[in-house]
Amino acid sequence: MARTERPIGIFDSGIGGLTVFEAVRKRLPGESLVYLGDSARVPYGTKSAETVIRYSLENAAFLEGKGVKAIVVACNTASALALPALSQKFDLPVLGVVNPGAKEAMAATKRRTIGVIGTSATIASDAYARALKELDSNVRVVSQACPLFVPLVEEGWTDNDVARAAAKHYLSDMHNEGIDVLILGCTHYPLLKPLIRETVGDAITLVDSAEATASALEALLGREGTRNKTSSKATYQIYVTDIPARFETVARRFLHNDLPGVRHVTI
Ligand code: DGL
Repeated sequence: MARTERPIGIFDSGIGGLTVFEAVRKRLPGESLVYLGDSARVPYGTKSAETVIRYSLENAAFLEGKGVKAIVVACNTASALALPALSQKFDLPVLGVVNPGAKEAMAATKRRTIGVIGTSATIASDAYARALKELDSNVRVVSQACPLFVPLVEEGWTDNDVARAAAKHYLSDMHNEGIDVLILGCTHYPLLKPLIRETVGDAITLVDSAEATASALEALLGREGTRNKTSSKATYQIYVTDIPARFETVARRFLHNDLPGVRHVTI
Protein backbone atom coordinates (compact mmCIF):
# COMPACT_ATOMS: atom_id res chain seq x y z
CA MET A 1 0.00 0.00 0.00
CA ALA A 2 1.28 3.49 -0.88
CA ARG A 3 2.38 5.40 2.21
CA THR A 4 -0.23 8.09 1.61
CA GLU A 5 -3.03 5.50 1.72
CA ARG A 6 -1.95 3.98 5.01
CA PRO A 7 -4.11 4.67 8.06
CA ILE A 8 -3.30 7.03 10.90
CA GLY A 9 -2.91 5.35 14.30
CA ILE A 10 -4.45 6.95 17.38
CA PHE A 11 -4.13 5.61 20.90
CA ASP A 12 -5.53 6.50 24.27
CA SER A 13 -5.75 4.91 27.68
CA GLY A 14 -9.36 4.06 26.89
CA ILE A 15 -12.41 5.82 25.61
CA GLY A 16 -11.61 9.49 26.04
CA GLY A 17 -9.35 9.65 22.98
CA LEU A 18 -12.44 9.20 20.85
CA THR A 19 -12.79 12.99 21.17
CA VAL A 20 -9.54 13.19 19.17
CA PHE A 21 -10.68 10.40 16.81
CA GLU A 22 -13.85 12.41 16.16
CA ALA A 23 -11.99 15.67 15.58
CA VAL A 24 -9.56 13.96 13.16
CA ARG A 25 -12.37 12.16 11.33
CA LYS A 26 -14.18 15.47 10.81
CA ARG A 27 -11.13 17.46 9.77
CA LEU A 28 -9.52 14.75 7.58
CA PRO A 29 -12.43 12.73 6.16
CA GLY A 30 -10.22 11.12 3.51
CA GLU A 31 -7.90 9.46 6.05
CA SER A 32 -8.37 5.93 7.39
CA LEU A 33 -7.97 5.62 11.14
CA VAL A 34 -6.97 2.84 13.53
CA TYR A 35 -7.82 3.58 17.16
CA LEU A 36 -6.50 1.65 20.13
CA GLY A 37 -8.10 2.17 23.54
CA ASP A 38 -6.14 0.52 26.33
CA SER A 39 -9.31 -0.10 28.30
CA ALA A 40 -7.79 -2.99 30.30
CA ARG A 41 -5.22 -0.68 31.89
CA VAL A 42 -7.10 2.63 32.14
CA PRO A 43 -6.71 5.03 33.96
CA TYR A 44 -3.22 6.29 33.13
CA GLY A 45 -3.78 9.57 34.95
CA THR A 46 -3.11 8.08 38.38
CA LYS A 47 -0.05 5.98 37.38
CA SER A 48 3.70 6.58 37.47
CA ALA A 49 5.67 7.93 34.51
CA GLU A 50 7.51 4.62 34.16
CA THR A 51 4.27 2.67 33.79
CA VAL A 52 2.66 5.16 31.41
CA ILE A 53 5.79 5.07 29.20
CA ARG A 54 5.78 1.26 29.10
CA TYR A 55 2.09 1.11 28.21
CA SER A 56 2.52 3.81 25.55
CA LEU A 57 5.41 1.96 23.85
CA GLU A 58 3.28 -1.20 23.72
CA ASN A 59 0.31 0.69 22.28
CA ALA A 60 2.46 2.32 19.61
CA ALA A 61 4.01 -1.06 18.69
CA PHE A 62 0.51 -2.44 18.12
CA LEU A 63 -0.35 0.48 15.82
CA GLU A 64 2.96 0.16 13.97
CA GLY A 65 2.00 -3.47 13.32
CA LYS A 66 -1.18 -2.19 11.65
CA GLY A 67 0.97 -0.32 9.11
CA VAL A 68 0.10 3.22 10.20
CA LYS A 69 1.87 6.23 8.62
CA ALA A 70 1.75 8.37 11.78
CA ILE A 71 0.82 7.99 15.43
CA VAL A 72 -1.35 10.41 17.37
CA VAL A 73 -1.13 10.13 21.13
CA ALA A 74 -4.66 11.21 22.04
CA CYS A 75 -4.13 10.69 25.76
CA ASN A 76 -2.89 13.83 27.51
CA THR A 77 -1.22 11.80 30.24
CA ALA A 78 0.70 9.68 27.71
CA SER A 79 1.54 12.80 25.68
CA ALA A 80 2.82 14.54 28.78
CA LEU A 81 5.00 11.62 29.89
CA ALA A 82 5.88 9.37 26.94
CA LEU A 83 6.41 11.51 23.85
CA PRO A 84 10.25 11.56 23.95
CA ALA A 85 10.38 7.77 24.46
CA LEU A 86 7.93 7.19 21.59
CA SER A 87 9.72 9.51 19.17
CA GLN A 88 13.02 7.85 20.00
CA LYS A 89 11.76 4.30 19.57
CA PHE A 90 9.58 4.55 16.45
CA ASP A 91 10.56 5.55 12.97
CA LEU A 92 7.20 7.24 12.43
CA PRO A 93 6.00 10.78 13.06
CA VAL A 94 4.46 10.89 16.55
CA LEU A 95 2.14 13.72 17.50
CA GLY A 96 0.90 14.36 21.03
CA VAL A 97 -1.87 16.63 22.23
CA VAL A 98 0.16 18.86 24.57
CA ASN A 99 2.02 21.05 22.05
CA PRO A 100 -0.99 21.70 19.78
CA GLY A 101 -3.11 22.62 22.84
CA ALA A 102 -0.36 24.90 24.21
CA LYS A 103 0.03 26.68 20.85
CA GLU A 104 -3.67 27.34 20.53
CA ALA A 105 -3.86 28.63 24.10
CA MET A 106 -0.94 30.97 23.53
CA ALA A 107 -2.59 32.37 20.41
CA ALA A 108 -5.76 33.04 22.38
CA THR A 109 -4.39 34.64 25.57
CA LYS A 110 -4.25 38.41 25.93
CA ARG A 111 -3.30 38.54 29.61
CA ARG A 112 -0.59 35.87 29.21
CA THR A 113 -2.16 34.03 32.12
CA ILE A 114 -3.30 30.54 31.18
CA GLY A 115 -5.03 27.86 33.24
CA VAL A 116 -4.39 24.16 32.67
CA ILE A 117 -6.51 21.32 34.02
CA GLY A 118 -5.70 17.63 33.64
CA THR A 119 -5.17 14.33 35.42
CA SER A 120 -2.86 14.17 38.44
CA ALA A 121 -0.04 12.67 36.32
CA THR A 122 -0.36 15.30 33.58
CA ILE A 123 -0.31 18.19 36.05
CA ALA A 124 2.56 16.63 38.06
CA SER A 125 4.61 16.30 34.85
CA ASP A 126 4.39 20.07 34.26
CA ALA A 127 4.38 19.29 30.51
CA TYR A 128 1.82 21.96 29.59
CA ALA A 129 3.59 24.64 31.63
CA ARG A 130 6.89 23.73 29.93
CA ALA A 131 5.33 23.77 26.45
CA LEU A 132 3.72 27.16 27.15
CA LYS A 133 6.91 28.66 28.58
CA GLU A 134 8.84 27.49 25.54
CA LEU A 135 6.47 29.54 23.43
CA ASP A 136 6.64 32.57 25.74
CA SER A 137 8.87 32.61 28.79
CA ASN A 138 6.77 35.38 30.37
CA VAL A 139 3.52 33.45 30.41
CA ARG A 140 1.97 32.70 33.81
CA VAL A 141 0.53 29.19 34.10
CA VAL A 142 -1.97 28.17 36.75
CA SER A 143 -2.35 24.37 36.91
CA GLN A 144 -4.96 22.27 38.65
CA ALA A 145 -5.39 18.48 38.73
CA CYS A 146 -9.05 17.43 38.52
CA PRO A 147 -8.93 13.69 39.29
CA LEU A 148 -12.70 13.29 39.74
CA PHE A 149 -13.57 14.58 36.27
CA VAL A 150 -12.61 11.35 34.43
CA PRO A 151 -14.83 9.02 36.52
CA LEU A 152 -17.67 11.54 36.37
CA VAL A 153 -17.56 11.59 32.57
CA GLU A 154 -17.31 7.79 32.40
CA GLU A 155 -20.47 7.57 34.50
CA GLY A 156 -22.20 10.10 32.28
CA TRP A 157 -22.45 12.49 35.26
CA THR A 158 -21.67 15.63 33.31
CA ASP A 159 -24.63 17.74 34.33
CA ASN A 160 -25.75 17.05 37.90
CA ASP A 161 -25.07 18.39 41.39
CA VAL A 162 -22.07 16.14 42.03
CA ALA A 163 -20.36 17.26 38.82
CA ARG A 164 -21.28 20.87 39.55
CA ALA A 165 -19.75 20.65 43.06
CA ALA A 166 -16.55 19.06 41.69
CA ALA A 167 -16.22 21.75 39.01
CA LYS A 168 -16.70 24.49 41.57
CA HIS A 169 -14.14 22.92 43.89
CA TYR A 170 -11.48 22.59 41.18
CA LEU A 171 -12.08 25.76 39.20
CA SER A 172 -13.03 28.56 41.61
CA ASP A 173 -9.47 29.45 42.59
CA MET A 174 -8.27 29.44 38.99
CA HIS A 175 -10.95 31.87 38.19
CA ASN A 176 -9.59 34.27 40.82
CA GLU A 177 -6.05 34.00 39.38
CA GLY A 178 -7.04 36.11 36.39
CA ILE A 179 -6.69 33.49 33.65
CA ASP A 180 -8.28 34.37 30.31
CA VAL A 181 -7.66 30.95 28.67
CA LEU A 182 -8.23 27.49 30.14
CA ILE A 183 -6.69 24.41 28.52
CA LEU A 184 -8.86 21.30 28.87
CA GLY A 185 -5.80 19.05 29.20
CA CYS A 186 -7.54 15.69 29.28
CA THR A 187 -9.39 13.65 26.68
CA HIS A 188 -12.54 13.51 28.80
CA TYR A 189 -12.96 17.19 29.58
CA PRO A 190 -14.55 18.30 26.29
CA LEU A 191 -17.63 16.41 27.50
CA LEU A 192 -17.70 18.70 30.53
CA LYS A 193 -17.46 21.86 28.45
CA PRO A 194 -20.97 23.16 29.21
CA LEU A 195 -20.42 22.64 32.95
CA ILE A 196 -16.93 24.18 32.88
CA ARG A 197 -18.29 27.11 30.90
CA GLU A 198 -21.07 27.55 33.47
CA THR A 199 -18.48 27.48 36.29
CA VAL A 200 -15.83 29.83 34.86
CA GLY A 201 -18.13 32.20 32.94
CA ASP A 202 -18.08 33.47 29.38
CA ALA A 203 -14.94 35.63 29.58
CA ILE A 204 -12.52 32.65 29.60
CA THR A 205 -11.61 30.92 26.32
CA LEU A 206 -11.72 27.12 26.60
CA VAL A 207 -9.07 25.31 24.54
CA ASP A 208 -9.92 21.78 23.56
CA SER A 209 -6.75 19.90 22.63
CA ALA A 210 -8.74 17.50 20.36
CA GLU A 211 -9.48 20.22 17.80
CA ALA A 212 -6.00 21.70 18.04
CA THR A 213 -4.44 18.26 17.54
CA ALA A 214 -6.53 17.50 14.44
CA SER A 215 -5.32 20.69 12.82
CA ALA A 216 -1.70 19.99 13.86
CA LEU A 217 -2.04 16.53 12.31
CA GLU A 218 -3.26 18.04 9.06
CA ALA A 219 -0.16 20.28 9.02
CA LEU A 220 2.14 17.34 9.88
CA LEU A 221 0.79 15.17 7.04
CA GLY A 222 1.21 18.15 4.71
CA ARG A 223 4.86 18.55 5.74
CA GLU A 224 5.51 14.82 5.37
CA GLY A 225 3.71 14.68 2.02
CA THR A 226 1.55 11.80 3.27
CA ARG A 227 -1.98 13.23 2.93
CA ASN A 228 -4.28 10.67 1.31
CA LYS A 229 -5.36 12.31 -1.92
CA THR A 230 -7.05 9.27 -3.49
CA SER A 231 -10.81 9.08 -3.59
CA SER A 232 -10.88 5.62 -1.95
CA LYS A 233 -13.22 5.48 1.01
CA ALA A 234 -11.71 5.97 4.45
CA THR A 235 -12.00 3.01 6.84
CA TYR A 236 -12.19 3.07 10.63
CA GLN A 237 -11.01 0.37 13.00
CA ILE A 238 -11.38 0.48 16.76
CA TYR A 239 -9.51 -1.91 19.05
CA VAL A 240 -9.70 -2.20 22.82
CA THR A 241 -7.67 -4.25 25.28
CA ASP A 242 -10.59 -5.18 27.56
CA ILE A 243 -13.87 -6.72 26.42
CA PRO A 244 -15.73 -4.17 24.29
CA ALA A 245 -19.08 -4.09 26.18
CA ARG A 246 -18.45 -1.20 28.60
CA PHE A 247 -16.34 0.65 26.05
CA GLU A 248 -19.20 0.56 23.56
CA THR A 249 -21.72 1.91 26.07
CA VAL A 250 -19.54 4.80 27.20
CA ALA A 251 -18.17 5.44 23.69
CA ARG A 252 -21.64 6.24 22.40
CA ARG A 253 -21.48 9.35 24.58
CA PHE A 254 -18.35 10.43 22.76
CA LEU A 255 -19.38 9.52 19.23
CA HIS A 256 -23.07 10.22 19.58
CA ASN A 257 -24.05 6.68 18.61
CA ASP A 258 -21.99 6.68 15.42
CA LEU A 259 -19.53 3.97 16.50
CA PRO A 260 -17.59 1.67 14.14
CA GLY A 261 -17.35 -2.00 15.25
CA VAL A 262 -15.11 -2.48 18.30
CA ARG A 263 -12.67 -5.40 18.40
CA HIS A 264 -10.95 -6.91 21.40
CA VAL A 265 -7.18 -7.29 21.17
CA THR A 266 -4.38 -8.45 23.48
CA ILE A 267 -1.19 -6.41 23.23
N1 DGL B 1 -6.79 9.76 28.61
C1 DGL B 1 -6.43 10.36 29.89
C2 DGL B 1 -5.89 11.77 29.62
O1 DGL B 1 -6.20 12.40 28.64
C3 DGL B 1 -7.60 10.40 30.85
C4 DGL B 1 -7.99 9.02 31.36
C5 DGL B 1 -6.89 8.33 32.13
O2 DGL B 1 -6.55 8.77 33.25
O3 DGL B 1 -6.35 7.38 31.61
O4 DGL B 1 -5.13 12.27 30.41
